[in-house]
Amino acid sequence: MERITTPALAEKFIAEQLEALRAQIGDGKVLLALSGGVDSSVVAALLIRAVGKQLVCVHVNHGLLRKGEPEQVVQVFRDQMDANLIYVDAADRFLDKLAGVSDPETKRKIIGKEFIDVFAEEAAKLDGIRFLGQGTIYPDILESKGVKAHHNVGGLPEDLNFELVEPVKLLFKDEVRVVGKALGLPDGMVYRQPFPGPGLGVRCTGAITRDRLEAVRESDAILREEFAAAGLEGKVWQYFTVVPDFKSTGILDGLRTFDWPVILRAVNSVDATAATIEEVPYALLHKITARIVNEVKGVNRVLLDLTPKPTGTIEWE
Ligand code: XMP
Repeated sequence: MERITTPALAEKFIAEQLEALRAQIGDGKVLLALSGGVDSSVVAALLIRAVGKQLVCVHVNHGLLRKGEPEQVVQVFRDQMDANLIYVDAADRFLDKLAGVSDPETKRKIIGKEFIDVFAEEAAKLDGIRFLGQGTIYPDILESKGVKAHHNVGGLPEDLNFELVEPVKLLFKDEVRVVGKALGLPDGMVYRQPFPGPGLGVRCTGAITRDRLEAVRESDAILREEFAAAGLEGKVWQYFTVVPDFKSTGILDGLRTFDWPVILRAVNSVDATAATIEEVPYALLHKITARIVNEVKGVNRVLLDLTPKPTGTIEWE
């Protein structure tokens, strides 16, 4: 198959897929879990063009998404593309289940199971769904027994008994991005960095608390904003903050504080199996540090993680 590298090739792919999707789906209804990630967003945009309101998108906000993400999904798909979108605010439900749980793999399992439960509950409320849309891409098929299977918390219930609709399953990530751009999705969605299924949950180490999770979300937003302003967005492979579950002393307005540190991590990689450190300019690091300690509640220190993979994994859990 010819690789999709240009807008013209993307248009050709889109035209072929629209025809194939209409032939497969007919007048049936399709359900899609829409995370706002590149793959599910491109599948949603394709299906909206192909079958419009026959598509029902479900966006589950598990409370572990980055700042502004759920709002962007609603704005792009409901407001701009006029999609049939069910937005489920399940944050409390996830955070209640995660309360007091500190083991990383147990946290992942809880998030994965809860996601499936919420999605299945929404599916059960709908009548006449025959198809399930999925953002499977080619590397998912190649790696289905490797890293991805271990990581995939977005797996869906097998007993739902739907016929699968997987229009981008033969594409690589870079091709999915070219198609997404041609479909008119915003750059922030098309070129976004990898984001783990368990979201900020693996960056709020140990047992997640709402206040520390907020510190992860706010510090991550500052880091992303400053990287974008410095022209690093789309150039650095993955960058984020971690807020560990310990505190250190600090000083503010002459008074001692006892607050969390924020750890900055910025790495480059090809396929996540190994990663090198992005050499972020010190002036930018100073600026980010000043903003984080001034703007993020409960934080008095900023640290930089200089560890490549190996020996450190990209995420902290
Ligand atoms: P690690 O930390 O294993 O991460 O070096 C490699 C890449 O995978 C992402 N990652 C995950 N993705 N579910 C996911 O969908 C997960 O549980 C998960 N854990 C790590 C990580 O962000 C990095 O890009």
